[in-house]
Amino acid sequence: MPLFARAPKPPPPDQLFSTIEAWQGDRPWGRVLDAGTGRHSLEWILSLGASSWHGVTAGAPGEGELRRAVGDRMRPVDRLISGNWLDPEFLRGERYDTVLADYLLGAIDGFAPYFQDRLFARLRPHVGRVLYVVGLDPYLDPSLPDPSKPADAGPSDPEAAAIVLEIARLRDACILLAGHRCYREYPLEWAERSLASSGYVVQRSQRLPIVYGRRFVDGQLDVCERKLPLFHDRKLATAMAGSITELRGRALALHDRLGGLRTGADWIVEARPA
Ligand SMILES: C[S@@+](CC[C@H](N)C(=O)[O-])C[C@H]1O[C@@H](n2cnc3c(N)ncnc32)[C@H](O)[C@@H]1O
Repeated sequence: MPLFARAPKPPPPDQLFSTIEAWQGDRPWGRVLDAGTGRHSLEWILSLGASSWHGVTAGAPGEGELRRAVGDRMRPVDRLISGNWLDPEFLRGERYDTVLADYLLGAIDGFAPYFQDRLFARLRPHVGRVLYVVGLDPYLDPSLPDPSKPADAGPSDPEAAAIVLEIARLRDACILLAGHRCYREYPLEWAERSLASSGYVVQRSQRLPIVYGRRFVDGQLDVCERKLPLFHDRKLATAMAGSITELRGRALALHDRLGGLRTGADWIVEARPA
């Protein structure tokens, strides 16, 4: 069973990749590294006509699933590799024209806790021409002071923001009670600071406001349900099952009333070696 739910996907997910394609323009993709690979990013990379691609995943089960999904679209020059960016020897000497870190930053906490501030420096020797980083702003928390809310995140519906935060909190509670680790997302400005102090020049960045759909509500609450059998306290698991059902009903009703849950933003950064 995967340790994590997939990162919540933006609507539509391809908007992030089409923005990267527009930024890339006519420049060739060359050798591509997907530094935290998954079905979604790999499908996109397969469409680019890269001269070769390598995809990294921290867990062998993930690698096997991906290998089956890619099937015979994998050429002899392409590779799926299990490894951990914590290991200083991992991919030593390999250099790529284009490196993608797609929702890798948020997932680091599961495989290399507290390594987030070292991630971009760790990737730096592998970046030949350009690094594209995709991430998700932490959910808006009404209890935090206003300056923590990015001005360019687009309009956020307060009811949608509150229920998305409620879903995220319930999901994280279930993940923790199952004995697993949660994602930890970082804001765009954190990533820009970290890139600047890790040997890169940030060329451009953009936030893409999110409107969550029913798939998000169901996907996140399905994660909660999958964690219930791992709770030690069976009474708590039963009570939690009731809370999940109740929240699902409320969130889907709000989604239908508002025509989507408009809150938060994904972000993309293009960074080049300094
Ligand atoms: C949220 S998933 C990325 C999503 C993916 N791009 C997609 O399209 O679905 C995070 C990926 O990064 C990998 N990962 C996380 N931490 C890692 C680490 N420390 N070293 C290597 N890979 C890591 C995970 O194994 C997983 O493949």
